[in-house]
Amino acid sequence: MIIYWIHDPILYVCNIFKFKKWRILLFIGICAFVLRINIIIQSLYPSVTQLTEQHKCPACYGVSACYNIHQINLLWHNINTIVSHLFGVKNVFFATYNQSKVVLKKLAQSSELKAFDVALCKKLHLEYPCMNVLLDKYIVDFDNSIKETITSNFSKDDSSRLRLCPTIQHLDDLFYNIHLNNKHIDPTQYLINLWTLVSLNPEPLILQILSAENGWPVPKYFGACGRIIIEEYIGPPLSDYYDKSWIQRAKIVSSLLNAAHMFTFKNKKFGFYLTDVSADNIAVDYKNVAKFIDLENIIVVDKNISLEGIPKEWHELQKNIMHFDCSNCFAFSAEDICNHHLSDHNYYAICQLLLDSTNENVFPGGFLHDVPVNIQLRYPNIEYLLQQCAIPNSTNSRIFFGQQLKTSLDAILEELF
Ligand SMILES: Nc1ncnc2c1ncn2[C@@H]1O[C@H](COP(=O)(O)OP(=O)(O)OP(=O)(O)O)[C@@H](O)[C@H]1O
Ligand SMILES: [Mg+2]
Repeated sequence: MIIYWIHDPILYVCNIFKFKKWRILLFIGICAFVLRINIIIQSLYPSVTQLTEQHKCPACYGVSACYNIHQINLLWHNINTIVSHLFGVKNVFFATYNQSKVVLKKLAQSSELKAFDVALCKKLHLEYPCMNVLLDKYIVDFDNSIKETITSNFSKDDSSRLRLCPTIQHLDDLFYNIHLNNKHIDPTQYLINLWTLVSLNPEPLILQILSAENGWPVPKYFGACGRIIIEEYIGPPLSDYYDKSWIQRAKIVSSLLNAAHMFTFKNKKFGFYLTDVSADNIAVDYKNVAKFIDLENIIVVDKNISLEGIPKEWHELQKNIMHFDCSNCFAFSAEDICNHHLSDHNYYAICQLLLDSTNENVFPGGFLHDVPVNIQLRYPNIEYLLQQCAIPNSTNSRIFFGQQLKTSLDAILEELF
């Protein structure tokens, strides 16, 4: 046999095939099948590392959470997660980390991410896909690109996500917390991370500016790794609470009015106006406190601009009066909000949603439907206050009615507990 092998190895292999052909074919078939299944499973259930796409950095969201990314366990039991992954629509994943539930976000749909990558290659005068390029070697002024992106005109480009207005003279003040959190990162890489975020989705920036640790009604931010960010899981969406007890709903409404007040007044330098307020973009925690979980679209108004060239209506309160033209819409003018030091926009957005006065009909009868009779008797104006906060028809402002409503709800809650 050995002699035979030495003399004619090809003949030897051919003989094996001749006599054990079926077994070998079967073996190859099984291997191919297992490989295929593996590929299918990998595309259905990618690992966290696959989701991060770290090779796209520095055109990514950062690397602060990469060191412990392997401790994150994705939860795939939710069919929505699998569907969302397959079609790349939501790109939001639920996971556990250190026994707590967290949310992983790719921050954009797959088509938007691809469009961004194509635009990036174009900016560098390279063919798509231009991966693993040393971006820092390119003379692209990312600093100016960031400024251009956050000042772009809403009417021209409705994909603008974070807008700082009416001037960007205090941009570094706005980004103070972000600069602080990233002070050890290479400055060029950091700038490219910032540019990627303002271009795709500024949510992680807002989560650092208005941090949960400082009491803002948003999820805690745990960091980024490549093209995913990790944030605290808050709880079910607001829409899940429509059938809950009135008291529970009253507590949630009070927290929403508190949020409207905070975003508008808490920061002395900037006002934060949320422009995508919907039942899906609000989640409620175990204490019945509502938090804003989708911060992709926001207008930040610099409250302390220099007096030179100040808009003439600057010192007045900006009141949204679009309901006169369309009572069933959620409409607003970004230009109007930007031309005033103060706007009733957050109250408008939240009260409209609670009253369900738009076409969407998410809360038939309003979120505070079926006020219990004993409460109705003692506080007969609850419904009136909500109505006036959404669509005022008196000289008092929405903000006034919103605050009155919050005071009444808090009094009820206090009386009962
Ligand atoms: N931190 C969180 N806690 C709890 N649930 C969350 C959190 N973040 C997101 N979700 C859930 O995931 C859904 C999608 O998240 P998000 O709104 O950020 O994604 P999206 O793709 O921007 O959605 P859209 O643009 O359609 O509003 C939310 O409606 C909510 O149900
Ligand atoms: Mg959303």
